Amino acid sequence: KYLQQHDISQDCKELLSTLPIEKGWLKPTMHQYQGFWFCPTRLHCVLSCQKSFQAFDTDILLVTAPKSGTTWLKALTFALINRNKYPNIHINHPLLTTNPHDLVPFCDRDFVSDFKTISHPRLYSSHLPYELLPKSVKDSTCKVIYLCRDPKDNFVSLWHFINKIRPKSSIAFPFEEAFESFCRGVSFFGPFWEHVLGYWKKSLESSEKVMFLKYEEMKMKPDFYLKEIAKFLECPFSKEEESRGMVDDILNLCSFEKLSNLEVNKIEKTSYEIENKFFFRLGQVGDWKNLLTTDMIERINTITEKKFVKHGLSF
Ligand code: A3P
Repeated sequence: KYLQQHDISQDCKELLSTLPIEKGWLKPTMHQYQGFWFCPTRLHCVLSCQKSFQAFDTDILLVTAPKSGTTWLKALTFALINRNKYPNIHINHPLLTTNPHDLVPFCDRDFVSDFKTISHPRLYSSHLPYELLPKSVKDSTCKVIYLCRDPKDNFVSLWHFINKIRPKSSIAFPFEEAFESFCRGVSFFGPFWEHVLGYWKKSLESSEKVMFLKYEEMKMKPDFYLKEIAKFLECPFSKEEESRGMVDDILNLCSFEKLSNLEVNKIEKTSYEIENKFFFRLGQVGDWKNLLTTDMIERINTITEKKFVKHGLSF
């Protein structure tokens, strides 16, 4: 169920009234909680996740800033860890009939309803910055896979997505204003750069806990990165699996072309009422060239360099 304003708890309402506030991209307002920006309903879910979520050491958590390739990472990891359960990938695989978001729930949104029945090892996802993850996730030995994307493509993808999901009656957030907001850090779970840096630093400090991936690199060498993910999750492909074409089978099943053309992803909605087709747009690197002006490109690149270069990270 998609949460509504009236579902927000009294505690959250009280907290909201004390937080820095800005104009929202989708809802009227966004609020800054512990350095990051949320719309009110999601903050309600984040607070209950932080308060009650209990991680297991065997859990696998996929994390992204929204629009960094969450859907793809969910599909790949689901297919990877369940490869023995569904050996006949072309015929009766759950990804053929269910959107990846309904197979891999968000702990910062769905956990109250979905987490009781989820099988172990549990595979779930989050958009939370590292700093805001529930304590039990940080304290456990659960594995975290973080996927990020060039902020220019991330912004463009987010802009398109928000316009698709907004109610027809609501007024669009002007492109230039959205760009300003994004650059100032006011975007869902933003600032984008701090979101990325939190996981980048943790991956350097503790590479067995956090794996750090880039969408652009995965698009370039998907087979290499799928094998790396398998090694990180301690379920590497055997020589026999590789020679049977298992790596390519998973990549094909999870490809943009395959998933976006499935009936389920063309006509159905996720359990939280977003049309599945909105999660598939172009699936390419570099669409920002078609939308951003020279000034915008320079502005965003300058921020990225200023924030990332000193930490050895670049796009
Ligand atoms: P574009 O809007 O640039 O096309 P998220 O899954 O985090 O919501 O991110 C959505 C972005 O990932 C969209 O980018 C979408 O098209 C792209 N995407 C979705 N499925 C994909 C897949 N299987 N392979 C590659 N990219 C995919």
